[in-house]
Amino acid sequence: MPTAGRWRILAVAGAAALALGAVALRRPATAAAPEEFPLLLSETGLYAPDGSIHPANRPFSPQYPLWTDGATKRRWVRLPAGASIDARDMDAWRFAAGTVFWKEFAWQGRPVETRVIRIQADGSAAYATYMWNAAGTEARLAPERGVARGHELTRDRWHTIPATADCANCHESGPSRILGFSALQLSDDRDPLAPHAEPLPAAALTLRTLVAERRLRTRTAAEAAVAPRITARDEVERAALGYLSSNCGSCHNAAGPLARLGFSLRPDVTYGSPGPARHGHLGPAIAATLRHSGRFPLPGDTTGARLIEPGAPEVSAVIHRMRSRRPATQMPPLGTVLVDSAGVELVRRWIAGMRVHE
Ligand code: HEC
Ligand code: HEC
Repeated sequence: MPTAGRWRILAVAGAAALALGAVALRRPATAAAPEEFPLLLSETGLYAPDGSIHPANRPFSPQYPLWTDGATKRRWVRLPAGASIDARDMDAWRFAAGTVFWKEFAWQGRPVETRVIRIQADGSAAYATYMWNAAGTEARLAPERGVARGHELTRDRWHTIPATADCANCHESGPSRILGFSALQLSDDRDPLAPHAEPLPAAALTLRTLVAERRLRTRTAAEAAVAPRITARDEVERAALGYLSSNCGSCHNAAGPLARLGFSLRPDVTYGSPGPARHGHLGPAIAATLRHSGRFPLPGDTTGARLIEPGAPEVSAVIHRMRSRRPATQMPPLGTVLVDSAGVELVRRWIAGMRVHE
C-alpha cells in the first residue's frame, strides 16, 4: 500500500445522476469500484524519472476525436506486459486489469488537464483527472466534483474539469468503456475528412501494430487483417458518421441507458472484408433515425422537428442541437461550451446531400 497522505480514495460517485433536460443519465449497474489515485500526475506512471513519457506508455490517436473546444490532445496507453486485448467482439474490446489510459488536453500549447482511466481487477474502470499548474510543471488530482472554471477559453467561456460522475456519463453508457482505442478508431485506413484529427504520432499504436505485436485476441484472423471502415456511400457520409459515432455515439447507442430513446448514432463498421465499402446502405441504427420525430422537441418548435430529415438540415434536430450551446438543448450536453463549426458543417453537408427518397 502506498503511504497515507500522498494517496487518497477516489470513488466514482455511487448514486450520481445527472439530470439533462427530461432524461437523467444514470450510472449503469456495472459501477466502477473505488480506486486509489496518487495526488500528483507524476506519480501515475505516465512519466520516466527524467520527465519524458515512460517508454512503456505507447501513444495512440483515434481517427475520430472528441471535440473539446479546440483543445489539442495527446493520448497514451500502458498495456500490461504479456497481456492481450480481448477483441472477440470487434465493437467492444476488453482490456486486462492494470491497463492504463491517459489523455492530455492543451490550449495554446499549455497543458490544462490530463485524464486517466485504469482497468480494475474486476474489469471495471476507475476515473481520475489531473489539473496542471500555470507553469505546466506538475498536475494535481482534481476534486471529485470537478472544477467549473478550469481554464478560460475566451472571454468568460470556461473549460470545465469534469466531475468523475461526468466521465461515467460518456464512458459507461455504451458497449465499451474505452472510446478512442478501438478497431475503428485505430484503423490504419484513416479518414482524411475527419474533423480535428491529429497526425499520427511517431511510433503510435494502430490496429496493424497491435496485430504485429500479437496483442489482439480476435475470433478470426481475417477480422483484424483488413483495416475497418465505416459503411457509407461516399466520403462525406463516412466522415459525418465517424464524427457522430465518437462525439455522440458514446451516449446515443443501442446498449446504454439512452437506448430507450430509440435513436442511435453509432454506424455500422465493416470488418474483415477487403475492397471498397458497400454502397447504398446506412446501417440499421442510423437508418432508423431518419425522418423520426424526436421525443424532446426544441423549445418553441411546433413542427415536431425530425432527428435527421434527409435533404433538410435546417429542420433536423441533430443540427439544432449541435449548433446550440444553451445548457438545456446543446449536444453533447457536457464537455463543451463552444460550437464545433467544422463538425456542424460536415454533418450539415451530409444531411443536405441525402436524397429525399432514401
Ligand atoms: C463528453 C463525453 C466525455 C466525457 C465527459 C469524458 N470523456 Fe473521456 N473520452 C471521450 C471520447 C469520445 C474519447 C475518445 C475520443 C478522443 O480521445 O478524442 C475519450 C477518451 C478518453 C481517454 C483515452 C482512452 C479512451 O477511452 O479512448 C481517457 C483516458 C479519458 N477519455 C478519460 C476521461 C476521464 C477521466 C473523464 C472524466 C474526468 C472523461 N474522460 C470524460 C468522451 C468523454
Ligand atoms: C453525455 C451523453 C450524450 C452525448 C455525448 C450526446 N447526447 Fe444527445 N442526448 C443526451 C440526453 C441525456 C438526451 C435527452 C435529454 C435532452 O433532450 O436533452 C439527449 C437528446 C438528444 C436529442 C433529442 C432526442 C429526441 O428524442 O428528441 C438529439 C437530437 C441529440 N441528443 C443529439 C445529439 C448529438 C448530435 C450528439 C453529438 C454531437 C449528442 N446528442 C451527444 C445525451 C447525450
